Formats: sequence, C-alpha cells, structure tokens
Amino acid sequence: MTETCNSHLTRRRFGQGALAMGAAVALPGWLRASDGAVPANLNISAGDSLRAHAAARGLLYGVAVNPALLDVDGFSAGATSDGYTRLVAEQANIVVAENAMKWAGLRPSAGSFDFSQADRLMRFAQLAGQRLRGHNLCWHEGLPAWFKTTATKDNARLLLTQHIQTVAGHYRGQIHSWDVVNEAVEPADGRPDGLRKSPWLELIGPEYIELAFQTAAAADPQAKLTYNDYGIELDTPEQADKRGQVLLLLRRFKARGVPIHAMGVQSHLQADGPQPGAGLQSFIRECAKLDLEVYVTEMDVNTHSLADGPEAQDAAVAATYRKYLDMVLVEPNVPVVLTWGITSAHSWINQSNEPWARRKDGARQRPLPFDDNLKPTPAFLALREAIDAGRPVRG
Ligand code: XIL
Repeated sequence: MTETCNSHLTRRRFGQGALAMGAAVALPGWLRASDGAVPANLNISAGDSLRAHAAARGLLYGVAVNPALLDVDGFSAGATSDGYTRLVAEQANIVVAENAMKWAGLRPSAGSFDFSQADRLMRFAQLAGQRLRGHNLCWHEGLPAWFKTTATKDNARLLLTQHIQTVAGHYRGQIHSWDVVNEAVEPADGRPDGLRKSPWLELIGPEYIELAFQTAAAADPQAKLTYNDYGIELDTPEQADKRGQVLLLLRRFKARGVPIHAMGVQSHLQADGPQPGAGLQSFIRECAKLDLEVYVTEMDVNTHSLADGPEAQDAAVAATYRKYLDMVLVEPNVPVVLTWGITSAHSWINQSNEPWARRKDGARQRPLPFDDNLKPTPAFLALREAIDAGRPVRG
C-alpha cells in the first residue's frame, strides 16, 4: 500500500502515557495480566487454538497468507514439517490471500488469468477445513503494470465486468465473502460524494462500484459481498468524516437494492495515539440496521512511533487488540475477525520501508499473534481472551 493509503496513521506520540509505562507502574483496567510475557508452556494447539476458541463462539478467526509459503502437498499427505503451514492450519478457520487474488496476482496480461497461487490457497483451505475470503475484485491499487497503458474509458467497463465474472465465477459457491470493492471512499480527494479519485472512477464514473457488486452477485450468488475500507476506526474528525461517507454509501446501496451483505473494517491500528471508540461502535450498529454484517478484515497493531522497548511494545499491542475486540465483539453482527498475517516474519509492516512502518530504533515490529519464530506473542493471548469474552454470534 502506498503512503496515501496510510495517511490516516497518526504520527502523534502517546508521550509517557499509560501504554508507555513499564510493568511496575499501575496499568489501566483493560490491560490484563495476559498482556505481559507469554508463559513458555502455554498450550496453543487443538482446543487451545484461536481457531477452536473462535469456533466455540460461533466466530470465524482467520489470517492473510501468501500461498507460496504454504507446504500444501506436505500438508495434504499429513506430513508437513513446515511450522508456518501447521500454524495457519491450526489457528485459523478462515484464510484470505494477502496479494494472490488481487488483479496483479491474477492477471499477468490483459488477455489472461493465472489462478495457480489462488487455487493453491483454495486447495489448502479445503484440506484444512477452512473458509476462504476473496480479496479483492476492484481496487485502485494492486493493478498490473499493463493496466495503465491498456485501460481506457471505452474498455474499462468490459475489463471490470469480465474480470469479476471470470474470477468470482472461477470460485463460484466456494468463497465465504468477496471484498468486491476496496477503499473507494476518500473525502480528502474533495469530491462531494466522498469517492476516491481512483482509476476506476475516472474511467467508468461513480457507478463502477454498483456495477462491481451487481456483477459479483450474478457470478457467485452464494458469496457474501463486502465493501472494505480503512481509516474509519478512530474518533478523529478525519476518520469520523470518512466513516460518515462510507455509511452514506452503504445506505444508498441498500435503498437502491444493490446486493451487499457486509462491511469490512480493515482495522490497521496503532498502539499509541487516538484509539477506536464510540464512533465505530455506533457505525457497526448502523450497519446492523441496514442488515449488514461487519467483518474485521485486516487487523494488526503498529508500534512505529512508540519509543519504548520490546516488552512495553508487546504489552501495548496486546492491550490494543484486547480493547478493540472487546468493543467490537459485543456487537452481534460481527462474526468474522482476521489479522493481516499470522507471524511478524511476513507482516507487511515489517516488509515496508514507508515511514508509517519503520521504527526509529530500527527494531522489527511484532504486530500479530505470532512472532518471527512462530511463538505466540502477548497479542495471541489478548485475542484469545477477547474471543472468549465476546458474545455468541447471532445465528
Ligand atoms: C498489502 C499487502 O499486505 C502488501 O504485501 C502489498 O504490497 C500491498 O497490499 N489494505 C488492503 C490490503 O486492503 O490489500 C493491503 O495489503 C494492506 C492495506
């Protein structure tokens, strides 16, 4: 993702606030005992996995993966020695391709499709008894290089609809939910309708979003069709404004009978600075009134601007997970939580050189439930406790 997409990430330091304190200092109530070090003998397998705890609540918990990292054949033979592969199978009951189902992952050329990586993930998910999310059918990023020189006002409609028909059709009946359109709202672009000035908008016009949903519904009537966005979690004026514009879009769609079933809230959070609160909670309830489910689609917690050492960072990340999920999982229309990766080894945060991803001390970040060595982080415990504490999902 470019810097633009992360302009919502505040650079404000939390100062010497509660999250920055060491363990000896009184901690806020929501920072539980489990936010400290993880016991060496912690059970995380079988009934103690995130997957099992989620299932017990009627929830789906899942992760974004790079299919190329999975030892699918070994797993299929019941003989994989690959720790990453085993962890994904053991901890997740839903998976999503981090990049493999984006345009750039599926479209080597304007005239062809390459499903090899995406199919690999589908095969793994089926072997592991997991659901698969589709991400995504229409986005202003993740487009192949040929797109810029090939897409025109004359062919863009056909390009978009044929892509959706082919991709959603390829997996018809097998996808839990499709992110049909990703990140289409950006009030900072200055349009009265709040829409982002994306290539799709410029080539097709504002109706491209509705066209994408209609086409996806026809191609795969069983998938839950999702609108997915970021920068709508906080109570800052900028994010409240964007959240309001997204809600208007959802209401317009419902009023016009556009097939849409869920709202994806990406949830790339920061451990310091303003935290999500009442605004997001009321947004989730407004979605419920529109008969929309809400999915936490890409959660991770960034500590790029937290000056403290590793333990305090771990505690702050865990506390952010716990507080956020405690807030959203009480809502009965939130049946799905995914983190954007499973281990910090492959987190996009650690792979990016953008300022929003780099720490001043050069340390790698630990934004996910497992670390570079596949060991559970305090965030693992926070996630598991929040899953347990959340209310059972509406049937
Ligand atoms: C990111 C991937 O994690 C990176 O590997 C890639 O280089 C860029 O895209 N919002 C989204 C995701 O919807 O598709 C993005 O994924 C992260 C932000």
